[in-house]
Amino acid sequence: MRRGLLITLEGPEGCGKSTHSRRLARWLKGRGFSVVLTREPGGTPLGRKLRSILLDQESLGLTPWMELLLYEASRAALVSGVILPALKAGKVVVVDRFQDSTWVYQGWAGGVDLEGVERLGRAACQGLEPHLTILLDLPVSRGLSRVARPNRMERKPVAFHRKVRQGYGVLARRHRRIRVIRTEAPVGEVQEKIRQVVERVLKINRE
Ligand code: TMP
Repeated sequence: MRRGLLITLEGPEGCGKSTHSRRLARWLKGRGFSVVLTREPGGTPLGRKLRSILLDQESLGLTPWMELLLYEASRAALVSGVILPALKAGKVVVVDRFQDSTWVYQGWAGGVDLEGVERLGRAACQGLEPHLTILLDLPVSRGLSRVARPNRMERKPVAFHRKVRQGYGVLARRHRRIRVIRTEAPVGEVQEKIRQVVERVLKINRE
């Protein structure tokens, strides 16, 4: 494959993104693609430090606006250091969360001005947009009940998480690159649906 492909996985808490990202990457490798699997925040040394500040530290008084700046710093590092070089080398990049998470968590649910979120996001991503986004959807209560040890974001009120899910719905109606897959079925069935969607996009990318 000459052109690289950026696939992102998104969704509310407990939707199974991490499991499905790993399985998708393994399947793509098995099909002979050169694959980079990464996540946000955390896919670079800076991202890992910021992840621990954003998710573990209760006492820093982080507001959604401060969160926005930290998530975008992490994203800028991931895009320039990992994603763009991999795409240039013709690889398939699978990312567990990307800019849509910021739009939804800090913007739609967190209350930061959406235009500002979009402007900062475009700068951090250097204009890069995913070719395909898999949005894994499930009811908020189901998702939160799957979380064993909630982190700082997961401990936010249920009303916040309902807005997160609603925000993802808004994005899915706005962008053709986003495909919604319900994730209450057994893992194997959900993964099969993901692969079917990815298969179609791979075909278009090769044409
Ligand atoms: P997770 O990837 O393990 O689900 O954890 C990341 C947490 O950070 C999750 O609660 C969503 C949140 N998050 C944001 O609030 N904004 C972002 O831009 C990203 C990437 C994640």
